[in-house]
Amino acid sequence: MRIVVGITGGIAAYKAPELVRLLKKQGHEVRCAATAHALEFTTRATLETVSGAPLYSDLFASGGTEHISLKDWGELLVVAPATANIIGKVASGIADDALSTLLLAFSHKLVIMAPAMNSDMWAHPAVQRNIETLRGWGIRLVGPAEGELACGTSGTGRMAEPETIAEAVNSLFLIPHSPLGRWLVTAGPTYEKIDSVRFIGNYSSGKMGFALAEALAEAGAEVELVTGPTHLNATHQRINVHRVESAREMYAAATGLFPQCNGAILSAAVADYRPAEQADHKLKKQGDQGMTLTLVQNPDILATLGTMKQPGQRLVGFALETDNELQNAEGKLKRKNLDYIVMNSLREAGAGFGVDTNKVTILGADGSRMESPLMSKQEVARMIVSTVAP
Ligand code: CTP
Repeated sequence: MRIVVGITGGIAAYKAPELVRLLKKQGHEVRCAATAHALEFTTRATLETVSGAPLYSDLFASGGTEHISLKDWGELLVVAPATANIIGKVASGIADDALSTLLLAFSHKLVIMAPAMNSDMWAHPAVQRNIETLRGWGIRLVGPAEGELACGTSGTGRMAEPETIAEAVNSLFLIPHSPLGRWLVTAGPTYEKIDSVRFIGNYSSGKMGFALAEALAEAGAEVELVTGPTHLNATHQRINVHRVESAREMYAAATGLFPQCNGAILSAAVADYRPAEQADHKLKKQGDQGMTLTLVQNPDILATLGTMKQPGQRLVGFALETDNELQNAEGKLKRKNLDYIVMNSLREAGAGFGVDTNKVTILGADGSRMESPLMSKQEVARMIVSTVAP
């Protein structure tokens, strides 16, 4: 991944070069951005040497647009340490130096913050309120840890260790704030029978849905995975697999399971139509004539769950769009009463059906928007789970 490490002015800034070194060792590309105060605790030369790239610390150094090009370059911004000051600035929308400006520009991308401050500062209601604001926007927090503080006391406020932050980067925060309970996932294609040997299907492999089920199970959920025909097998023991074939079978399984679930992610590529007549024998050719199949509409599972949804239940849909992507996905989010919609764009190379990678944008009913880098479907699944889980 392309990671920007942002460093602010706390004593733990002396550990930032170690974090940069670890991330580089794990194969990430890293650039650094630092506040003027951070450079009291670590140096430009150190950060440029370990990252192998020029440091971004002056808003006007190269014409005042570096924050935009760095935002376009970076896929993830990790602020370590994050002082009470930077947390407060972001929560209030203040952009008065290089790093705070970059942070606002990063609003649709992944941000991880590792707070570090004195324990009384951490406990201050203003800081706690700001933290809740950041969390609500999808900013991931690692730490602070308990232990000795620079001021000679001990308590909660130490920056998480560089190893812990690097781990958080790699797991993309698969640690929910509260227990997940039971989740329903739909995956794969559906097959709509024409006769005893033929069907209408699609190219969905089921990989995204299986990866979501694994990510949910890894995060502690019990998973009910309703899947259309696929060769995949679930590996986690907390995943119950329900194999179905047609949209109507998937509908019956999903609507039956949803009332016992805390949330549902519907990633299946459900056939919108099925043949009006489904023969139990093999249809024979009719001389030289062509053949006309009459199709009737299948039930919309996602829309039905949207009408069944109870307070506290989360419902997440997928959208595969080619044109007017954001607008169409937002329309679906509202129409189907969803909490989140995960948008796949068919225009992205390496995203969508059949391939092992994906790149998505997650839109929230609260107006939030989060873009993922192009990552493996496992990583995208983790990011989705950590965004949509409560
Ligand atoms: N979906 C579903 N049941 C269906 C059709 C779709 O549960 N019969 C779900 C998919 O699993 C996905 C979402 O609906 O989560 C989006 O499906 P999509 O086919 O893109 O949306 P539609 O609402 O069918 O809209 P359109 O075909 O107009 O794009």
